[in-house]
Amino acid sequence: MNTPPDSIRAVVWQEGELRLLDQRRLPDAESWLRLDTAAAVADAIRDMVVRGAPAIGIAAAYGVVIAARQRYRENPADWKTALEPDLEQLAAARPTAVNLCWALARMRGLIQCLDGDPVPALTAEAGRIHEEDIAANRRMGELGAAFLDGVEGVLTHCNTGSLATGGFGTALGVIRQAWGEGRIRRVFADETRPWLQGARLTAWELVRDGIPVTLLADAAAAHLMHTGQVQWVIVGSDRIAANGDVANKIGTYGLAVAARHHGVKFMVVAPTSTVDLGTASGADIPIEQRPGEEVLGAGGRHIAAPGAAAWNPAFDITPAELVDVIVTEAGVVERPDRDKLAALMARAAA
Ligand code: MRU
Repeated sequence: MNTPPDSIRAVVWQEGELRLLDQRRLPDAESWLRLDTAAAVADAIRDMVVRGAPAIGIAAAYGVVIAARQRYRENPADWKTALEPDLEQLAAARPTAVNLCWALARMRGLIQCLDGDPVPALTAEAGRIHEEDIAANRRMGELGAAFLDGVEGVLTHCNTGSLATGGFGTALGVIRQAWGEGRIRRVFADETRPWLQGARLTAWELVRDGIPVTLLADAAAAHLMHTGQVQWVIVGSDRIAANGDVANKIGTYGLAVAARHHGVKFMVVAPTSTVDLGTASGADIPIEQRPGEEVLGAGGRHIAAPGAAAWNPAFDITPAELVDVIVTEAGVVERPDRDKLAALMARAAA
């Protein structure tokens, strides 16, 4: 077996500074931003400098370190009160991915117990969130790849790789692992309109790591299945509700419907930080609406007929009954439902 390729990191904490690879500019430019306020981190999350559910949680955790450092310097006696608006600003940056609030809740839990200079303990906790995410991705890679024996083709959507996580990736981690183990012969990726995470980011990652990738327009996915070229659709998630409904990048639901129709298996790969037992079903998951200009334009240029309006939900909900397997670092759940997910999360917490 070859070692799965894994050369990319997009969120870096170095010498007390948060550095983010600016994903808006890929693949044309590899430019890094240095962020030194919570407001700048919140803006970077909202504006998609950093995106992908686990990655925005990790960036927000480092954002808490930056904010706490500033508030403690300004007011060592009452820094926790002064920090509250920073935490709220970070939490409000994007609504759908639960990993953002999950990471902030973890940092908050630690803040409650701290006396004196908070920076060393908070830096260590943010680093743990980051490292645990990479470890979870590696474990999910192994668990997910085990489902893929002698597979002719897989299709993925959006970007779920090193750019979207601490490193290695969720769905793309499974694909990296399966490719390294020689379990799959071809990788297809949807271009993922309107933001083109597939064409710009997934293709960049895979080409860079030496994994051949074939891009297709989102609208070609059902035909790809109909012509028998893929046996699995493998995607990530921004939030999995208690009943197993899955929020993910817009277009995922359509893939799941088409996959079931064609007898193609549907795998969701997400760490337990994405599972939200506090949200009963997909109907309760907030769906982010993004600016219409993302749909009306392409490559920074307005292309739609002047006067046309746009509807631009960034995510959709795939009902649990269309999911064949959810892979987490704590184990896999086939044909997910409320009881199986509750049991998985209880095992993970034990
Ligand atoms: O809008 P984005 O690019 O943040 O959306 C990302 C996705 O939908 C991913 O599939 C999801 O976050 C899982 S990534 C590990």
